[in-house]
Amino acid sequence: MSKAALNQVSWDQFNGLGAIEKAPYFVENGRSYHALVAQQFSRPMLEDLCSLATDVRRIAKTRDGSRFLQSQLFDKHAMLYFAQPSTRTYLSFYSACQIVGLQTMNVRDSSTSSEVKGESPEDSVRTFSSYADLIIMRHPAGGFAERIAWMLSNTSRPVPVVNAGSGKDQHPTQALLDIYTLARSFEKTGGIDGKKIAFVGDLKRGRTVRSLAWLLTHYEGVKAYFVAPPELQIGEDILKQLDAAGMPYEITADFEKVIPEVDAIYMTRIQDEWDVDNESSRIDTSKFYFTKDHLSVLKKDAVIMHPLPRRKEIDPAVDSDPRAVYWRQVRNGMWIRAALILSIFGCDDAVRTYYKEHK
Ligand code: CP
Repeated sequence: MSKAALNQVSWDQFNGLGAIEKAPYFVENGRSYHALVAQQFSRPMLEDLCSLATDVRRIAKTRDGSRFLQSQLFDKHAMLYFAQPSTRTYLSFYSACQIVGLQTMNVRDSSTSSEVKGESPEDSVRTFSSYADLIIMRHPAGGFAERIAWMLSNTSRPVPVVNAGSGKDQHPTQALLDIYTLARSFEKTGGIDGKKIAFVGDLKRGRTVRSLAWLLTHYEGVKAYFVAPPELQIGEDILKQLDAAGMPYEITADFEKVIPEVDAIYMTRIQDEWDVDNESSRIDTSKFYFTKDHLSVLKKDAVIMHPLPRRKEIDPAVDSDPRAVYWRQVRNGMWIRAALILSIFGCDDAVRTYYKEHK
């Protein structure tokens, strides 16, 4: 099914589907048109994006290469609409747009747009689409980016929509950069297949964990460990998806036991911006911090990851250990997002050809 199908389905029909069922509406000929949910990325798509990100990274090392990349989309405009705070996702998309030549506009705070005059977010984004060829958006409402993609597909100017973080449910491009980081980290140790990966912290409200856990189902023999206080454990909906995909996992609160067993530890912060009654302050999370002492029991080829921002869950003294890859994740985000944008606009083949001819 192609993106055209989004204008052949009512919102209620579409909205009633699960993420896996929605995925085909966002993909066309093996490439994402919209990038909205982790469930739309197959393993071949992930591998293509990772190899394209590496080509882009290498091409960008020379001035001629940078000029070539910038020539790809110099005639296009991207709208960066961030209705929630962001440092990394905003800046990495902004940088990715610059790498591929896309000109950018932004609204980083709805209080500076006509939403304060009562304009609906839907009308605001429809306005953006009058000026932009791509909308990259972060919004506190779960599923809002999907709603926008559906809405724009039913106008005379449909443009692709990229979800840069929605509610507590999805952060698909963070999951892409996490996969790219894992793939690069395990390049010499057999890749992601067969690895044991622990998710630690606020798994209930962490959208990065929810998106990445799904992508890991594409890799053979991966086992997940969900390490959290009971109040912050991973949602049943994700576990059902992992069960259906046949991916083994363990649910535990025993972080000390898990650390020496795993190949990757994915730390997360407490997402207390979603608290209703300051409930996070009543949960003891101190047993879920990664300290300098833990380095001595961690496998020598393991990696410590974090989507960032962090608070106390990783001691800054850990940063200088070569197994701490969270600052590499930040940089990888820029390359994989540049690759995604190129792929959305169908420029991936030209970039691959350029790399082959100039390496
Ligand atoms: N990882 C991430 O989404 O960071 P920001 O909130 O700073 O964009």
